[in-house]
Amino acid sequence: MAVRRGVLFGRGSGQEVDDGYDREAHVLDSMGVPWVEVDLEEVLDGGSEALRHLPRSRGWSWLYRGWLLNPDDTTTLWEAVLERGDRLVVQPSEVAAAALLPEWAPALGGLTPASVWTEDDDEEEAWELACSVLGPPPWFVRDHLKSARQWWARAAYVPAGADREAFARVCAGLRAFMEDRFHGGFVVRRFVELAPLPFVAQGHPVFDEHRVIYWRGRPIAWAPYHDVDDVEPLERVPFPDLGRRVASPFFVADLGRLAGGGWTVIELNDGGSSRFPDQLDPWEVYARIFPD
Ligand SMILES: Nc1ncnc2c1ncn2[C@@H]1O[C@H](COP(=O)(O)OP(=O)(O)O)[C@@H](O)[C@H]1O
Ligand SMILES: [Mg+2]
Repeated sequence: MAVRRGVLFGRGSGQEVDDGYDREAHVLDSMGVPWVEVDLEEVLDGGSEALRHLPRSRGWSWLYRGWLLNPDDTTTLWEAVLERGDRLVVQPSEVAAAALLPEWAPALGGLTPASVWTEDDDEEEAWELACSVLGPPPWFVRDHLKSARQWWARAAYVPAGADREAFARVCAGLRAFMEDRFHGGFVVRRFVELAPLPFVAQGHPVFDEHRVIYWRGRPIAWAPYHDVDDVEPLERVPFPDLGRRVASPFFVADLGRLAGGGWTVIELNDGGSSRFPDQLDPWEVYARIFPD
C-alpha cells in the first residue's frame, strides 16, 4: 500500500491558519494533497488529543509547516505524531542540522560569513573568541537559532570601533529580546556588506536577500525575500550543490547579495518553519515535493 502523504500545519491556540498557509492550503487542495491543522500549544502541552483531527487511518507521512520550534519542542511534536502511528518527513536531528547555526555553519565553510559561538550565555567568552578569530567589529550577534534584528542597534549589530562594553550591551539586548527563548548560546559573525534595498522595516535595514528552497538535496524553487522585481529561473540559483552539505531533506537557504558582487549564505533554516516569499507560488514547491 502506498504511503499516504500530506501536510501538517501547526498553529497557535485560537489562531486561524495565517495568510501564507491559507494560500498553501489552497494549492494543496488543487493538487489533491491532504492537509491537516493542529494546535501546537496543545501538542506541546502533551495532549495526544491535539492530533484528533488527523485521519483515522494510521501510517501517514506528514510534512510539517508551522512555527519555528526549538529542538525540545520539535522532539515533542515528533513523538506525538509517532505515538499516533504516523511520522514526520523531517526528523528532529535533520531539523537541527538546518536550524542551528553551530550545526550548519561548519558544513558551509567559506560560503557563509565567518562565525564563532559559545555553548551558553558567556558573553566574555564570546568577546574573546570574536576578537581572536574574527578580528575587530563590525559584527552581527544572534543566538544559535534566531537573531533580534528588529532591535538592530540594541541587540544585533556591533559597529566598527565598538569596545567590550558596547558589545556587552548588545549581548544584554539580545537576551532581553529573546527572554526565555534564548537558545543555545551567543553567535558572533563577521558583518558583511550586503546590497541595500530602499525599504524601511521595523527598526532594521533591509538588504537584497533571496530564499532558496531545497528538497532532497536539490534547489526546487527560489525567490527574492523582499518585493524586488528580479525573479530568476532555478538554473540561476547560486550554490546549487549546497543541498549535499546539509543533512536535511527539506531546508531553506537565505542568500544575501554582496554589495561588491556575488553571494553569501546569510542563514539556513528548517524548511517546515520557513515562510515562502510572497513572490514564490507555493505550487512550485509542492509540485516538486508531491509530484503525483
Ligand atoms: N553576518 C552578517 N552580515 C551582514 N548582515 C547580516 C549578517 N547576519 C545577519 N545579517 C542581516 O540580519 C538579518 C537577520 O539575521 P539572521 O541571521 O537571518 O536572523 P533571523 O532571520 O533569525 O532574525 C539578515 O536577514 C541580514 O539582513
Ligand atoms: Mg533570517
